[in-house]
Amino acid sequence: MARIYVNPNVKKGRINPELQGHFSEHLGRCIYEGIYVGEDSDIPNVNGMRRDVVEALKEIRVPVLRWPGGCFADEYHWKDGIGPKSSRKKMINTHWGGVVEDNSFGTHEFMELCRQLGCKTYVNGNVGSGTVREMSEWVEYMTFRGVSPMADLRGENGHEEPWTVDYFGVGNENWGCGGNMRPQYYGDLYRRYQTYIRNYDSERPVRKIACGANGEDYDWTEKVLETTFDHGHGYMDGLSLHYYTTPRISGRQKVSALDFDREEYYCTLKATLKMEELIRRHGAIMDRFDPGKKIGMIIDEWGTWYDVEPGTNPGFLYQQNSMRDALVAGINLNLFNKHCDRVKMANIAQMVNVLQAVILTEGEKMLKTPTWHVFHLYRHHQGAELLESSVETREVGTGEYKVPGLTESVSRSGDGRIHMTLTNLSLDSAEDVECIFADGRVKSAEGTILTGDMRAHNTFEEPDAVREKPFTGLAAGENKLRFTVPPCSVLHLEMEMI
Ligand code: AHR
Repeated sequence: MARIYVNPNVKKGRINPELQGHFSEHLGRCIYEGIYVGEDSDIPNVNGMRRDVVEALKEIRVPVLRWPGGCFADEYHWKDGIGPKSSRKKMINTHWGGVVEDNSFGTHEFMELCRQLGCKTYVNGNVGSGTVREMSEWVEYMTFRGVSPMADLRGENGHEEPWTVDYFGVGNENWGCGGNMRPQYYGDLYRRYQTYIRNYDSERPVRKIACGANGEDYDWTEKVLETTFDHGHGYMDGLSLHYYTTPRISGRQKVSALDFDREEYYCTLKATLKMEELIRRHGAIMDRFDPGKKIGMIIDEWGTWYDVEPGTNPGFLYQQNSMRDALVAGINLNLFNKHCDRVKMANIAQMVNVLQAVILTEGEKMLKTPTWHVFHLYRHHQGAELLESSVETREVGTGEYKVPGLTESVSRSGDGRIHMTLTNLSLDSAEDVECIFADGRVKSAEGTILTGDMRAHNTFEEPDAVREKPFTGLAAGENKLRFTVPPCSVLHLEMEMI
């Protein structure tokens, strides 16, 4: 039997809703078709945004959206994407499939999308191939109220009111596609570019995010902080981290989203659990410079990265999504919760039709992936207080790919209810769990579960093959709750305590 210990009296910090954030890039069919179809489309839309997709995203309470990239961000020139659509410049999206980008989705459309979603805005600026002036003017265009060249231009383009830019990224992956820079050089550029990101409205400050490391590149974190840190408070609100789960088994060529075996399943989960070590080790470096944890770790790209679906454009990164991905999502969201003292935002890559998407579309059809369901199960943690918890569990897995049987995180939401999310990584056994609370009695408990074969997934023909179901068999007594969680599953439990 596994045991979970919860101490409702020990609060470990607020879980920023942004830990369940999303990322949308001008890549493949993420923005175009996946989200934006234009006002004249036959697909039902509101101001060009697909009604079905926006509705599905609202159900998971998207807290923040990052745009326009990714690698695309460091090639994006925002002025190409404003003004009458007929006169917007067309360009080749060199990173992603070499297709024509007609700039019909630009700043105004992004802000409209965030308005419809009711989410915060995270705009990623161009350091790699853009100028300081261009970046500074973009922020002025979006946020300045009053008379100024950019505010006037915004008015001419039909939006008198400034928008709120909650987060602004100063470049993306500048160690790679964003300019192949060395950390000291990027650090110096960061100092310069961020200087001109003005806070025009002190009530709604723009939080600045510096480009952080790729996976285990601890040297990047160290040197960027070393180069920038004497720069005074307010110069940096977040430092990013990118880590993708790519289950590569030596000797195997394929990394398929659906055609995988037990070994690849456990290899994937082991690879995703690496996130914990990355958070700890990058976090330890950040602690040395910023012991007060004022700078957030912003994991603004995470998720699985497999081979594209056979027959699709290799530059579009379109992949299916199975119960394995649900486990990856559940494990990571639990980890982010547990490290909410340092991790202040995380954005799954990407929102629709790209990599570990929560939604897939095909023409007018749409489906919710198993990953969508995990976000739906975990939405209760948004803004809640993380509670102290730990799990005693056995190892499961195969050969060199051994992983803990269970992962968990527990929080108390504003209405006083306790939420526990749990993943059972085992493919073979249901797990008997005893949950022990250090204080209080369990008055009532109910649950919802997502479970299935490791390859189970939704298709346009069978969009509900994998879906949440009520979880039964909860036995509450005094300060304990007992239940059995099936293999390969993600569970949400909600409890009332007295
Ligand atoms: O998400 C796809 C790509 O992965 C992004 O454009 C880039 O930042 C990362 O390498």
